[in-house]
Formats: sequence, C-alpha cells, structure tokens
Amino acid sequence: MVDELLRTAHDRYEGHDEGAVADYIPALARANPEWFGLSLVGVTGTVHEVGDAEVAFTIQSISKAFVFALACAAVGHERVHERVGVNNTGLAFNSVVAVELNGGSPMNPMVNAGAIATTALLPGADAAERWAHLQDGLSRFAGRSLEIDDEVYLSESETNHRNRAIAQLLQSYNRLDGDPAETVDVYTRQCSLSVTAHDLAVMGATLADGGVNPLTGEQVVSAEVCRDTLSVLASCGLYERSGEWLFEIGLPAKSGVSGGMVAISPGKGAVGAFSPLLDGAGNSVRAQRACAYLSRALGLNLFASARWSASQNGAA
Ligand code: DON
Repeated sequence: MVDELLRTAHDRYEGHDEGAVADYIPALARANPEWFGLSLVGVTGTVHEVGDAEVAFTIQSISKAFVFALACAAVGHERVHERVGVNNTGLAFNSVVAVELNGGSPMNPMVNAGAIATTALLPGADAAERWAHLQDGLSRFAGRSLEIDDEVYLSESETNHRNRAIAQLLQSYNRLDGDPAETVDVYTRQCSLSVTAHDLAVMGATLADGGVNPLTGEQVVSAEVCRDTLSVLASCGLYERSGEWLFEIGLPAKSGVSGGMVAISPGKGAVGAFSPLLDGAGNSVRAQRACAYLSRALGLNLFASARWSASQNGAA
C-alpha cells in the first residue's frame, strides 16, 4: 500500500512545473528541474522509494535541523534556548532585519542567523574540531559517511557575503563566540553536504524514533533532543510559511534551497523528498505537495482530532 501511495504522489505531481531552481548560489543552477524523488523510511526500518530517490544534492538548510539536534545534545536545552531562541521570525531565511528587530537575537534556529549561532555552539577547540563533530553527527543520522559537494561549497564560499555580514552582526550583539568567518565556513560546509532523498528519510526517521537510527540501530541523540528538535521544526521548518504548512499538513518538516525536504511523523517514520523547483519562500513545490498528499493518505497529521467514543467500537 505504501509503495502504491508513493507512486500515486509521484505520478500526480511530476508534471507540476511551477517554481524556479535556486541560482543565488551559482552551482545550484545546474540542477535538473525534472528531478523528483520520494523516500519513506519507517521506525521499524522499512524503506519505500520512487523516482530520483538516489540522486545526490546538497542538504542546504535541512542541515539546520540536525545541527540543532547536535547542539541541544552538546550544550543542552536551556543554553540553546537562551543563545539562539526557538521562535519563528516571520521573515525570509536570509533576513538581516530580523536580527535587528529582535535586539540581536537570532530567534529562529532554522534561518541563517540562528543556524550560524547554533553551529558556533558545537563542541571543539577550533573550527576544524567543530566541523569534524558536525560531519560525524550528521553521518550518524544518515547511517553513512556524508561528504561535501566541493563545487557547491566553493561556489557558496565565493558568494556568501550576506551570511558573513549576518555573523558579524551577531558578534556585535555578543551572540556568537569565536571567529565569525570561521563559523560561516563551518556553516557553509554543513550546507554543502551531499545527500539523497533516501538519506533525508533515514535522518528524519531517526528523529521520529527517539534518536535511534532505524537502519543502523545506533542511538544518535536522546529522545529529549528529538522532542526539542521536532517542536522547532513544527514552528519554524518552512520559514515564513511554517504556519500555513502546519495548518495544512500538521507535521514537523524542514526544507532547503536545493529542493530537498524532510517531513517527520513522530513514532512512525519520515518522508524524504527532492525536487529542485522552489516557491517564493525557498521550499520545493513538488516536495511540499507530495508530503501533503502522503500525510493525508497515511493519516499522519499530528493535530487530527477524533471523538473518544468513536474509537471504542461503538461503546458509549
Ligand atoms: O545559507 C544559505 O543561504 C544556504 N546555504 C542555505 C539556505 C537554504 O537552504 C534556505 N532554504 N530554503
């Protein structure tokens, strides 16, 4: 049944060609707008896939979710809350104004300012150690060694002036320890990690499974860290469209400008989706539609309400 639903979602949306491929990072413009892959991984380790589920793309902003989990595990709930914040800014992912409007607080760990502040919280004596911790942690979520796409990394490094400005601004408000340029470099590396829709589904299923990777059996983070991460994804995962997403789909999710998306059903599993055509907020059009379809078809909306007596076999 799940294979059939994935196939239906793929058939239904593969012809949808609204949106545009991201090109503000020049190397991302090489993406084929036709690519469309879906993967669903259950907490029991079941895997279902259709389309381009094994095509590699850079994880981009989806890394923010998993780096947030690593930071919560390393420095704890309170420190992340106080230093970064856990609220939606209601503004674009690369907004500088959001930092100014909030007195220097990044507020939202799922936009660039908050993600850069989160990356700076990772343990390590220097940037190289923080990067090693990050790459190792995200690889454990995926259950395989994740590597950088060098072309995207170099392209973003040459053009990420805005992120460097954001990091300097955070430093001026004492929200960033360490060297801002080095932190932006670690952040740019994390965004350049190469993944597939399958990897995203495994990573999401690990968050759904109390922090245990359902394919490797490894405890990557604690169940408490998963809870903290999923709550932030629910309120902030789709940038300024997060409220609409939760209203329509009812699942914590995260998207990235390469066209990837992960939607998580706590205790059940996760969908990884990939298609490069993006809407105005930077979210993949086909991935959102496919996740919405699957959430409805599989009854995954977290806010679905049902009358108690209706589930008691007719007992009043
Ligand atoms: O910092 C950036 O702009 C990119 N590395 C990531 C942005 C991103 O994925 C936003 N997504 N919709």
